[in-house]
Amino acid sequence: MTDTIELRDICHHFDAGRERIELFRGLSFTVRGHETVAIIGPSGAGKSSLLSIAAGLERPAGGTVCCTLDGASADAWALRARSGFIFQQFHLLPELDAIGNLALPLRLKGHLDAFAVAARWLERVGLKDRARHRPHQLSGGEQQRVAVARAFVTAPRFIFADEPTGNLDVQTAESVAALMFDCARETGCGLVIVTHSKPLAMRADKTWLLAAGRLEAAA
Ligand SMILES: Nc1ncnc2c1ncn2[C@@H]1O[C@H](COP(=O)(O)OP(=O)(O)OP(=O)(O)O)[C@@H](O)[C@H]1O
Ligand SMILES: [Mg+2]
Repeated sequence: MTDTIELRDICHHFDAGRERIELFRGLSFTVRGHETVAIIGPSGAGKSSLLSIAAGLERPAGGTVCCTLDGASADAWALRARSGFIFQQFHLLPELDAIGNLALPLRLKGHLDAFAVAARWLERVGLKDRARHRPHQLSGGEQQRVAVARAFVTAPRFIFADEPTGNLDVQTAESVAALMFDCARETGCGLVIVTHSKPLAMRADKTWLLAAGRLEAAA
């Protein structure tokens, strides 16, 4: 049974003082597990907001988000619990070393073998010899590799990534992008990426363009 996230007829806006910023009206969009999807579009179009709504982090002003996990309907809380997140700024915990950052989400879920699973993922992303390094002792690319491993370590059904290569040089961005897509395909996890990077978007099964409140299949 395929996991799905279905956004139907979504409307969203922000009220900033007297001004209302209208982001989308009547936007519909479905993501399936095992599928990789990129969302591109101009700055301010609402890509990060759409990602937050799809991930169940933000509730839309109108419309519905229906999610199916393991054949049963799931609410936003259940979706978040089965999701991994990757951000432009890495967001590793500075006081924990690389393996500690990876083990934390597992420990929070009560896994007794958190450090063993974390060690396997650290090896998968090529950082076995950096286990005891804290984030400030890692390069940007290494920090993002840890963040990618942290997103996958709990065996999520969906990964949501917002500008995951935005802070990396071209070559490092390529290798982090390859790692994310390889991990998603190896684990059969759905991947939704928001990006300004054409080469990154081209790796996805589908690319959507968000502009002027509308989502269209990108050419
Ligand atoms: N919490 C908020 N309160 C008020 N306005 C907001 C809020 N979050 C976002 N906005 C506004 O909504 C619009 C869309 O923001 P969003 O971050 O989703 O855009 P984006 O497409 O991700 O842009 P970028 O490519 O620059 O990251 C912007 O004009 C932004 O200023
Ligand atoms: Mg954004």
